[in-house]
Amino acid sequence: MPAGDPFYITTPIFYVNDVPHIGHAYTEVAADVLARWHRQAGDDTWLLTGTDEHGQKILRTAVANDTTPKEWADKLVADAWIPLLETVGIANDDFIRTTDARHENGVLVFLNKLYDDGFIYSGEYEGYYCVGCEEYKQLDDLLETPDGDFAGQLVCKIHGRPIEVLQETNYFFRMSQFEQKLLDLYESQPDFIQPESVRNEIIQFVKQGLQDLSISRSSFDWGIQIPWDERHVLYVWFDALLNYATAAGYGSDAAQFARRWPAVHIVGKDIARFHAVIWPAMLMAAGLPVPRRVFGHGWLLVGGEKMSKSKLTGIAPHQITDTFGSDAFRYYFMRAISFGQDGSFSWEDLSARYQAELANGFGNLASRVTAMIGRYFDGVLPGPSEYTDADLAIQRTVATAAEDADVAIERFAIHESIAAIWTIVDDLNGYITTQEPWVLAKDDAKRERLATVLYTAAEGLRALAVLLSPVVPLATAKLWTALGQEAALGDQRIRSAGEWGVLRPGTAITKLEALFPRIETTEDAGAA
Ligand code: MSP
Repeated sequence: MPAGDPFYITTPIFYVNDVPHIGHAYTEVAADVLARWHRQAGDDTWLLTGTDEHGQKILRTAVANDTTPKEWADKLVADAWIPLLETVGIANDDFIRTTDARHENGVLVFLNKLYDDGFIYSGEYEGYYCVGCEEYKQLDDLLETPDGDFAGQLVCKIHGRPIEVLQETNYFFRMSQFEQKLLDLYESQPDFIQPESVRNEIIQFVKQGLQDLSISRSSFDWGIQIPWDERHVLYVWFDALLNYATAAGYGSDAAQFARRWPAVHIVGKDIARFHAVIWPAMLMAAGLPVPRRVFGHGWLLVGGEKMSKSKLTGIAPHQITDTFGSDAFRYYFMRAISFGQDGSFSWEDLSARYQAELANGFGNLASRVTAMIGRYFDGVLPGPSEYTDADLAIQRTVATAAEDADVAIERFAIHESIAAIWTIVDDLNGYITTQEPWVLAKDDAKRERLATVLYTAAEGLRALAVLLSPVVPLATAKLWTALGQEAALGDQRIRSAGEWGVLRPGTAITKLEALFPRIETTEDAGAA
């Protein structure tokens, strides 16, 4: 993608019924890494996140806590969801709440358009509804539990909680009209839904036939009122999906919307269907372009099941970052789990990777190289003389890693991108071991060779700082400063990071504190 292209990326907007766990933080980090990469590539990048505040689930939580839904949402947003961004280092450009006036106004514009154009009609809904999922359910989505608290009742397969039976006069969206158009979209734009497993599941689902969708509720009032019938509030998913458009200016700022839209949506695979079926159908009905891509990532599992607060398996992000820091959180989840697949979290694995890869692999390399330039050249970066095969091999590693990392990011293969960059860490560590600069330093006749080795190592670190800054922004900023660089790290074009010879000989290099300090024991970390 040439520099300057628009890149609008979104996270799901999160329900404010509860506080965030590491599954939510995982989505935030993935979208943030992709956004930071594109921003640093010079693309016209915009990262949106936010909160989903209407619907019965939030209403019931607020009532159970003796407060109003708006007060509850305000409190959770201020105390939990905004602080999450800081906890895991998210550089979002915007934060939308579905209770924002800009959102509600845009939703009304959209609804009126669909109503005027004949895509909405009044009808009878009779069927099942799961408040936990905020979703209309079919019999296939339910189970009859033989025992336990809900013995003999129909429960949602996802939550194991009883389902509600609705009989309401509702407004319906003519989604069934879009069945073939959606199938054509999946066919003509094969990367519209990713990964392949999610794509196949969605295609199967749509091929079974689409029904019209009930888009209003009349038995409670926490939501956006239907403009032509104030007895109804909008179905929470119809409301929530529109955040991606209203935040980008739909209904309020046409120029901004034209600049940003369409978006790339990062979502958990559990909600890919809403994004890859309902949402494009809504957009088609309104005559708007469909999203560029919907990527459904995997789940963080605990004991083989999706981590969730309702099952009491949620881990708060700060439990990890308090001990390991936000960079380690970001690195671990992006590196250890193939983006698009499920992954299990374990304190042991996190601790082991922190120690081996971040502290010993990358951090130690950075400290040693900067310390040797301090010791042998009084902290002034020496210039290289003739390059040997070993030096040229490092230059090739850097060039190849930068290229491969960018290609992997284009495919959203964040884990592969980091693995490609890590070849620089591994090769440079091997290079230092075989070149033995501490031996060269003992022989005045080898001064030029020592200079070339340390310049080569410093250039490798320079490339690492640029390439890893989307993943570990705090550590790379420290490294960048230690490399004596005044221009902002964020201004270093990531797609040129593989070019050799950027550091100027004569630059003052300073000593670097441990980027990833030793952490005492796994037990300590687990108990944090
Ligand atoms: N409010 C809706 C989304 C509306 S988007 C228009 C919603 N919110 S949510 O708070 O329940 O969670 C949304 C997202 O959190 C999931 O899609 C997923 O990205 C992330 N995760 C929640 N639990 C997770 C795991 N256990 N593992 C990985 N991601 C998880 O759904």
